[in-house]
Amino acid sequence: MTDETPISDQERIRRRVHELGPWFHNMNLGGIWTAPEHFLGDYPNVKWQRFATALPADLSGRTVLDIGCNAGFYAIEMKRRGADRVVAIDSDPDYLAQARFAAEVQRAEIELRQLSVYDVAKLGERFDLVLFMGVLYHLRHPLLALDLIHEHVAKDLLVFQSMQRGSAEVEPLAEDYPFVDVQAFDRPGYPKLHFIEHRYSGDPTNWWVPNRACVEAMLRSAGFDILQQAEEEVFLCRWREAAFGPDGAHAVYPTRGAKA
Ligand SMILES: C[S@@+](CC[C@H](N)C(=O)[O-])C[C@H]1O[C@@H](n2cnc3c(N)ncnc32)[C@H](O)[C@@H]1O
Repeated sequence: MTDETPISDQERIRRRVHELGPWFHNMNLGGIWTAPEHFLGDYPNVKWQRFATALPADLSGRTVLDIGCNAGFYAIEMKRRGADRVVAIDSDPDYLAQARFAAEVQRAEIELRQLSVYDVAKLGERFDLVLFMGVLYHLRHPLLALDLIHEHVAKDLLVFQSMQRGSAEVEPLAEDYPFVDVQAFDRPGYPKLHFIEHRYSGDPTNWWVPNRACVEAMLRSAGFDILQQAEEEVFLCRWREAAFGPDGAHAVYPTRGAKA
């Protein structure tokens, strides 16, 4: 549907958009914008325009999983690029209802499932392209989520995005640091994950916000090689064998573990 959508249909869409709101994704559904007053502007389209060229233009023959799909903006874009299958999951049924409606109006065939990132193993398959955008900082167990994505659903490309706070510097990391080196942790380029006990930006679901060095280190540690920083907050990564895993089996006391 477009701005050419008949007025009667536009009225139906307007009513449904209102019933399903508030929306985080601003999308044009048959001429009706879902979040025109978004505090980040025309979001996420403004962000998408900054990294869209980093992803394959033609996704035909590939499968896509969008984790934390919200109202489905990215899932629908992936379908527009010709992906064979797009599976989109979110833990929140209200956002999934928005995604279902948006996909219906835009005539995009998306498989939607209510599922937490912690349960991705239930999907029982791996995907050529996994999107994990804007979710990490909403999790109480962010590294576990990355480990589970690595272990169960990713097989090639991962598109990752996180809010970042703190320094954007990234310093080369040593393999080890002496116990007496207490300054390393205070350097701006050292990986840091900031814990939010209460709220950030009024949102009680913000738990951990990494600096840039931490994003890069967590991705590597979970078994994702960074191919490209596609936008300030967006990283295109490739799956490789990981040293650890969700159970942290090898991360035992350093004199005996694989890290030693
Ligand atoms: C900031 S929005 C990001 C939406 C979209 N991925 C994007 O980048 O625009 C965060 C989304 O993650 C979802 N989410 C939060 N915790 C989740 C979890 N444990 N598993 C799956 N989705 C989750 C929220 O419901 C919300 O739709």
